[in-house]
Amino acid sequence: MSEKSIPPLKEKRILLGVTGSIAAYKAVELASRLTQAGALVDTILTQAATRFVAPLTFQSVTARQAYADQDLWNGQEHVLHVKLAEWADIIVIAPATANTIAKLAHGLAEDLLSLTALSFTSSPPRIITPSFLIAPAMDAGLWKNPAIQKNVATLKKQGALTIGPEQGHLASGLDAAGRMSEPENIFREIRYQLSRRGPLAGKKFVVTAGPTQEPIDPVRFLGNPSSGKQGFAVAQAALDQGAQVTLIAGPTALAAPRGAEKIDVQTAEEMTNAVLSNCPRADALVMTAAVADFKPAKSYAQKLKKENGLTGINLKRTQDILTQVGRLKKKTGWPKIVVGFAAETENLIANAQDKLNKKALNLIVANNIAQPGRGFQSDTNQAILLAPGSVPKTLPLMTKEKTAVEILARITLLLKN
Ligand code: CTP
Repeated sequence: MSEKSIPPLKEKRILLGVTGSIAAYKAVELASRLTQAGALVDTILTQAATRFVAPLTFQSVTARQAYADQDLWNGQEHVLHVKLAEWADIIVIAPATANTIAKLAHGLAEDLLSLTALSFTSSPPRIITPSFLIAPAMDAGLWKNPAIQKNVATLKKQGALTIGPEQGHLASGLDAAGRMSEPENIFREIRYQLSRRGPLAGKKFVVTAGPTQEPIDPVRFLGNPSSGKQGFAVAQAALDQGAQVTLIAGPTALAAPRGAEKIDVQTAEEMTNAVLSNCPRADALVMTAAVADFKPAKSYAQKLKKENGLTGINLKRTQDILTQVGRLKKKTGWPKIVVGFAAETENLIANAQDKLNKKALNLIVANNIAQPGRGFQSDTNQAILLAPGSVPKTLPLMTKEKTAVEILARITLLLKN
């Protein structure tokens, strides 16, 4: 099993259909990405697809079977399409040409891929829904054609999920809609769809991430170097377990995980409002954000000019979000679980313990940001988990993604109790 294995994809049986489009070469990257994430990927190529890319290419990146059309007739397997349709948890056709879409919409079972996909979609309801994903790829004129749109609509009505196509450069030279979605976007969609029945399905998570910025004037602010990486990783880990996630983020350069409802904020005050309005009925709040403790007492409407001089900036305290959440929880019972972070440079455990008590938290994630490979900007973290009445748990130095998975495992336990 791959080191990078991620829960919703681990050991999932994905049947990848590849049809005859120039985007077929990108399907190799998708197959590789899914395999690295722990999925078992078998591939079926149509005859036209093999003109662009070979079954061997897929076999090489997936270490599994890649079937071409002639396997329907010459292969060793008995009734191959039935076997594959029974085997798959999910079928992904990427790229899906107008021709294959038409075959599937009209029930034309004439090659290994259409036979398998039609057998698959007509079998009893799947555990995973939607279990049939198509990523169309064709020239813009074709994509706009009403007959093709009708075929796509037919498949959607039958429960298929379409991903893209996206606007962009097409092989014909046009810049228009028709380009297959990027493998990374298809991967993210598959990851999200496969996660929906995870152990935290139905649970609502609110996660904060990144820094806040407190404006001095329209071009200057007080801030901190938080990258948001740990918070975004927590949001992704919660999504991977099936939770519904609201991600409240200060300014960061990161893309939100697929499926998260992202609320962008700038200041501590905006973050406070967003958190408080999302706490009711939240199962867990994870305050990963590095919220400013002070803001300029006065924020200037116009840019300060240096000629005018500036002798100092008076500061005033921002509100402590967790303290307010504590009050809300006392009154309403929401959020059920409140998790804080403690970024410290000294007396890590004592300071974290103090915050745990003062802010009435269910869990605090403490890290010593003065040490290399931990805290702000870094891709790795080394955290200690402290909860009331239990022995502190020291996690190893590891990626923020893995740290997030550990934090989620602990929250899941707290939610069970
Ligand atoms: N936090 C908060 N509201 C603030 C500041 C921090 O809710 N205005 C949250 C953070 O998101 C984090 C926890 O409180 O989960 C601890 O933040 P940290 O900055 O380590 O501690 P502070 O409480 O700000 O205390 P100090 O800066 O004195 O260490």
